[in-house]
Amino acid sequence: MKADAIKITEGVYWVGILDWDLRDYHGYTLEGTTYNCYLVFGKEKTALIDNTYPGTSPQLWGRIYDAFKQEGKEEVKIDVIIQNHIEIDHSGCITEFTNKFPDLKLYCSTKAVAGLKNHLPALADFEMNPVKTGDTVDLGGKTFTFLEAPMLHWPDSMFTLLGEDGILFSNDAFSQHICSSYRYDNEISEDFLLQHAQKFYANLVTPSSPLVLRKLDEVVNLGLLEQIKMIAPSHGQIWTDPLKIINKYQDWASGKCKDKVTFIYDTMHYSTKKMAHAMIEGLISEGIEVKAYFLHTDGRSDVVTDVLDSKAIFVGSPTMMNNPFPSLGDIIYYLTSLSFKKTGYQKKAIVFGSKGWGGGATKKLTTDLEGAGFEVIGQHDLTFIPTADDLDKCYDIGKEIAKQLKNE
Ligand code: FEO
Repeated sequence: MKADAIKITEGVYWVGILDWDLRDYHGYTLEGTTYNCYLVFGKEKTALIDNTYPGTSPQLWGRIYDAFKQEGKEEVKIDVIIQNHIEIDHSGCITEFTNKFPDLKLYCSTKAVAGLKNHLPALADFEMNPVKTGDTVDLGGKTFTFLEAPMLHWPDSMFTLLGEDGILFSNDAFSQHICSSYRYDNEISEDFLLQHAQKFYANLVTPSSPLVLRKLDEVVNLGLLEQIKMIAPSHGQIWTDPLKIINKYQDWASGKCKDKVTFIYDTMHYSTKKMAHAMIEGLISEGIEVKAYFLHTDGRSDVVTDVLDSKAIFVGSPTMMNNPFPSLGDIIYYLTSLSFKKTGYQKKAIVFGSKGWGGGATKKLTTDLEGAGFEVIGQHDLTFIPTADDLDKCYDIGKEIAKQLKNE
C-alpha cells in the first residue's frame, strides 16, 4: 500500500504503523495505537529499528519504499535491523526482512536472542548479534550506541541512541497508546498526551519503578542526558522535549502523588454507591481531587492510571454470598500484580460497603488490599439501605480522611 515516511531529521525517518482500530490490548483499553519503526540511512548502510505486529506490515513497507524514494535511492536494501524488544508488536514481521535481505545483520540484547527464536521459530538458524551497554554500530556517519534496559519493560528490552542526532529510540519506555495523525508531542494537547503517557506507565511499567530510577541515574551518570535531543518511543508521539517525559517518569517511579483519591466501587441496589457519593462530597469539601470508577462499566486500565498518582483509594462493594462483588476480584488481582508499593510510597486504602446480614465484603477487601501492598486505614459497613444519618457519617469519613491525606 502507499503510505508516506515522515522525515525526522537528515537520514532519519518514521516508518511506523497507524493502527486506528485497536480497542483492547491484552486488557488495556485504548482508541488505537501506533507501532513506531524508524529507518536510518548512513553513508554505507541502512538500518530499520523495530518492526510491527503480524499482518500490519503493508503500511511499513509502503513507508519504507517512500523513505528510499525521498532519499533518492532506487534500490531498497536494508542492511541492519535493530530489535530493541522481542514482544510481537515490535518483532512480528521480522522474517519478512530476513527473507528479503538474508545478509542483513540483526542486533539485539543477549536476552532477546532466545526470545526471538522462541517467538519466531523461522529464525531458529538465523545468526543474531547480541549487544550490551556501550556497544556501538556505525552505519557511516550514523552511529548507534546501545543501552540495556532490562524490565523496562521485559528482560530483553534495550534502548538505542543515535549519537550524531541525539535521538533515543526507547521502544516501549516513554510510549503512549495513542493513534493520531500527528507524530510529535507538541502537535497534540499536552494534557491528553501526558494522560496517555501516565496510563502507559501505570499499566506496563509500575512494577519496574525501582529499575526506572536506577536507569535514569545511569543515563545521567553516563552523560547521556545532555546528548538526548529527542525520544522516539515505539508507541505514540515522539518527544521533542525529552525532559518533559523524563521528569514525569522520575515522579511516577518515585511515588510522587497529588492530594488525590481514586474511588473504585460496585453496587447492587445503590446503597454502596450512595455511600461512595457521600464520602466523595466529604473529600472534595477539603479540596481533594477525586476520580471515581464504577465497575459496572469502567475498566481496570483506566482505574490504575489514576491510582498511580493518588495518595489513597476508596474501595467499595456490597456483600454478595459473604464476599465482594466479582468485579472487585478483577481489580484486586490487577492492583496486586502492579505492586504500587514498589514506587516507594505506601498508598492508603479505605474499604466500605452495604451488607444484608452476615457481611464479609469489607473484611475480604481489607485482607486482599493489604496483600496488594496498601495500608488499610478504614473499614465501613452498613446494613441494607443507608439512612440520612449514615450518609452524613460517610461525608464525615471523607472529610476526616481528606485532612489526614493533606497532612502527609
Ligand atoms: Fe509494545 Fe512490550 O510491546
